Amino acid sequence: MITKPKGTKDIYGMEAKRWQYVSKVIDEVMEKYNYNFIRVPVFESSELFHRGVGETSDIVTKETYDFTDRGGRKMTLRPEGTAGVVRSYIENKMYGDVNQPVKLYYNCPMYRYERPQAGRYRELTQFGYELIGSDDPICDAEVISLAVNIYKILGLKGIKVNINSLGDAESRNNYREALIKHFKPHINKLCEDCKERLEKNPLRILDCKVDCDKEVMKSAPKTIDYLNEASKQRFEKVKEYLSLMGVEYLVDPTVVRGLDYYNHTVFEVEAEIEKFGAQNVIGGGGRYNGMVEQLGGPSTPAIGFAAGFDRLMLALDYENVKMPINNSVDLFLLYVNEDEKKYAVYLTNDLRMNGFIVETDYLNRSLKSGFKQADRLNAKFTIVLNSDDLINNELKIKNNKTKEEDVISLDALIYYLDENVIEDDDCNCNCDDSEEHECHCGENCKCKKEN
Ligand code: HAM
Repeated sequence: MITKPKGTKDIYGMEAKRWQYVSKVIDEVMEKYNYNFIRVPVFESSELFHRGVGETSDIVTKETYDFTDRGGRKMTLRPEGTAGVVRSYIENKMYGDVNQPVKLYYNCPMYRYERPQAGRYRELTQFGYELIGSDDPICDAEVISLAVNIYKILGLKGIKVNINSLGDAESRNNYREALIKHFKPHINKLCEDCKERLEKNPLRILDCKVDCDKEVMKSAPKTIDYLNEASKQRFEKVKEYLSLMGVEYLVDPTVVRGLDYYNHTVFEVEAEIEKFGAQNVIGGGGRYNGMVEQLGGPSTPAIGFAAGFDRLMLALDYENVKMPINNSVDLFLLYVNEDEKKYAVYLTNDLRMNGFIVETDYLNRSLKSGFKQADRLNAKFTIVLNSDDLINNELKIKNNKTKEEDVISLDALIYYLDENVIEDDDCNCNCDDSEEHECHCGENCKCKKEN
């Protein structure tokens, strides 16, 4: 048997339905914030990620899937979304659009050669968004609050936002020098990678997974102490706007993020879920004012966020968050002879085109096992097509729950289904009915009526 590659997963059945629901909620929320969907290639030239994500990040040095194509070009499967989106922004001259800033979002697989474990995959899915073309702190606050709101709307509790600032170029340089001064005397205590990082990019020492518990790491200087006045004031504005939006956050000076492109605001979102253990960061982002220019575009400020979709789904599972997922069909059509089957062929198509979820038998089942199949599919109604009834322009339609049967004229079927097929009335949004809450169950949700 050929099995799936390590670090990948198949998503199907109920899990696929949950993924689709979450994607739909994300689409709806992104629309409210006026972000447009963007689809960029799964592979790009390797140079893009080296220049965009950074030569010294773990992602580029250890985790990319690189290959040479048949034309001898060096290609890389995208490890993250930001560099590709910025490449597209420049190549398609979006900086010339009348609508500025440009707001784009994506929801797609990324590839990182990491050690797989729960919530960490080699093919991972991220949903993310990038706001390109404004340096106003209002954008930083909005990008952070948007992440929080998506999690909130999905019903995820225990969300924690940790923010920090790396400051502008001057602040970052001052900080870099402070880090070199701090780590240099202890260089022999650090791993081989960190020895190299000290010269190339000392900031990356701070996300070393080997040395992270050492005292020298814990006593390292903090970015926040090296911000110049302008960077400090900017960070204060971000915090002020976050408070105005009602976003709770914690200033955590240890958040430096594992990618090279950030400046000013950086942030991570954690889900406080016991089962998650150390893999509790479900998303992260920050400002990257230098990347557009670095990749050949005009100097343009930008900020964005990306969330691990797989981790989000795991969090929703661990928290037992229910979703309004349809798990039934409106009508199951049964037949016995070929003439009735032909009518089923016509009617199934016609009813589906009129918006109903209709199933029929594809396996020449007996009526008895056909009814069983209708039950398995939670069919709301069943019809056994009968030639005599059809000649009389009639149908017998049975409510599969109450087992009551109605005789109706053929022409009235659509009207009958329109009137009688009602959405499930149960609240699926995992709420306590007595509690005030946001609900996404749709119009027939009990709790929505109460609110
Ligand atoms: P990142 O922190 O590398 O940032 O990834 C964002 C999120 O993707 C992580 O917080 C985590 O939830 C998820 N993730 C990362 N690696 C894995 C993995 N191997 N398996 C499962 N989930 C994973 C970025 O990718 C930046 N592009 C974010 C950004 C957008 N910054 C500005 N704009």
